[in-house]
Amino acid sequence: MTDPQLVLTERVQAALGAAFGADFADADPLIRPSQFADFQANVALSLAKRLRRAPREVAQAIADELRDFPGTVEVSGPGFLNITLADGWIAERAAETLADPRLGVGVAAPAQTIVIDYSAPNAAKEMHVGHLRTTIVGDALARVHEHLGNQVVRQNHLGDWGTPFGMLIEHLLDVGEEQAVAQLEAGEGTPFYQAARAKFDGDDDFKRRARERVTTLQSGDPETLRLWHVFMDATIRYFNKVYAMLGVTLTDDDIAGESMYNPMLATVCDDLEAAGVAVVSEGALCVFPPGFTGSDDKPLPLIIRKSDGGYGYATTDLAAIRYRVHDLKADRILYVVGADQALHFQMVFAAARLAGWLPETVSAEHVQIGMMLGADGRRFKTRSGESVKLMDLLDEAVERASAAIAARGYDEETQAEISQAVGMGAVKYADLSVSHDSEYIFDFDRMLAFTGNTAPYLQYAAARVRSIFRKGGIDPETATGPIVLGEPAERALALQLLGFGAVVQQVADASEPHRLCGFLFDTATAFTGFYEKCPVLRDDVPAETRASRLALCALTLKVLETGLGLLGVQVPSRM
Ligand code: ARG
Repeated sequence: MTDPQLVLTERVQAALGAAFGADFADADPLIRPSQFADFQANVALSLAKRLRRAPREVAQAIADELRDFPGTVEVSGPGFLNITLADGWIAERAAETLADPRLGVGVAAPAQTIVIDYSAPNAAKEMHVGHLRTTIVGDALARVHEHLGNQVVRQNHLGDWGTPFGMLIEHLLDVGEEQAVAQLEAGEGTPFYQAARAKFDGDDDFKRRARERVTTLQSGDPETLRLWHVFMDATIRYFNKVYAMLGVTLTDDDIAGESMYNPMLATVCDDLEAAGVAVVSEGALCVFPPGFTGSDDKPLPLIIRKSDGGYGYATTDLAAIRYRVHDLKADRILYVVGADQALHFQMVFAAARLAGWLPETVSAEHVQIGMMLGADGRRFKTRSGESVKLMDLLDEAVERASAAIAARGYDEETQAEISQAVGMGAVKYADLSVSHDSEYIFDFDRMLAFTGNTAPYLQYAAARVRSIFRKGGIDPETATGPIVLGEPAERALALQLLGFGAVVQQVADASEPHRLCGFLFDTATAFTGFYEKCPVLRDDVPAETRASRLALCALTLKVLETGLGLLGVQVPSRM
């Protein structure tokens, strides 16, 4: 373990046990970064009452037990403990981290099976920006869990079934298969849907055909299923273009759309009814999970079979949860889905628990995704008020990135590589760097800025470290130290780098990629401070200092590259 905050927590807990008895050994020492030292521990203030002693006295008793601590511990103010780590201790841990191929990141023991439900666009419409964030956040979580050694099962819960497919298939026949496929593959799903919808609303004959088509689709008519596949395959080819552009790890093997659960829905309803979990109310089959009430204080139903016999979104999700626990053997299921679906998931989870399909040993978590807003603070739309086509947005990001670096005089190939990495990196990082449940304003200028907590800033920082090695003709792998800390900026950088393992674990535990973003930003900032104060390759730098600084550069580079990799942000080879 290298993370100073974790090491200190353990040490201070041991001191608490030694000073006040075993009952106190698991109190939270409340270690926080401090302005006056590396860290402060505030535990004496919180324990004073329980111990019936003055806080400063409690603090002193803890400090006395920390005599052998590698660093200094001082009592200050009303009873804070100011803790400063010894340079030698930091240097040793930094060297250990550099020698560790995992850079201080642990391995999950035991490994868990983590099902991650993310992206999940609706095929009956065009994939829109709202799905961008769930795709990007979900993909980062998948990468982090895999890196920790967990078994990740990606599930792309496509909206690929239901009544709209009647009119979509009829419209496909009207347009002609070939023509329709070309349109869908090009990402024209929204106009395709709108055209079908307009006919459905305005043309009675079309409406009748569409309705009949729903029935033949439900009954499994082979020709209708073939047409459904034609529609879906073309749509998925477009989704795959978007995934490829974004560098998202989803593949066709991860598709587990609503249609997949269709054959299970009748059984889901029968089983729930037989178990007494679902009851018929006003003709519909419903589950009333305890604790959910509507505005009128009446129990809120989760409808699983409508009075016309049709199944809904909730029925599919109940089938999915049963499948994920029973067949996929999930230990943990993450639903990376819009925050507006919070009630739906709470009720589905509660119903699944009632049914015994979601045992207490399995956790189901809704990773709520906040809405993406336009500069006007309203739901993100084009100027004419339409929803924005995702691919256009991504193309624009790359174009803007390209314009931003145009003056640097790269050859064409390098220019293209950097624009792609910076453009996509910027879009993805902007989504990841704010907490996933808060709304966020989509702003090209801000996400593409080369300063601040942005992808370009971090990519540039990594490129700058690389260029040090390139200029020196040195392979970063050979920069192994030893590390000796002299300058404050060296010390600050080394201390910062020790926190990598802990932050990756936090991202996995709390499903919060923005913590890793914040950490990488702090790392890049610490590196900038180091780079300004501490020459590395200059002739007058003594050999040992140079070796130590190169080792710090190598560790910085590895942490930045690994960290950005976990976020799915590419690092261009130069910048
Ligand atoms: N297709 C849905 C939508 O766009 C999201 C599906 C999320 N996953 C789930 N298991 N319900 O709103």
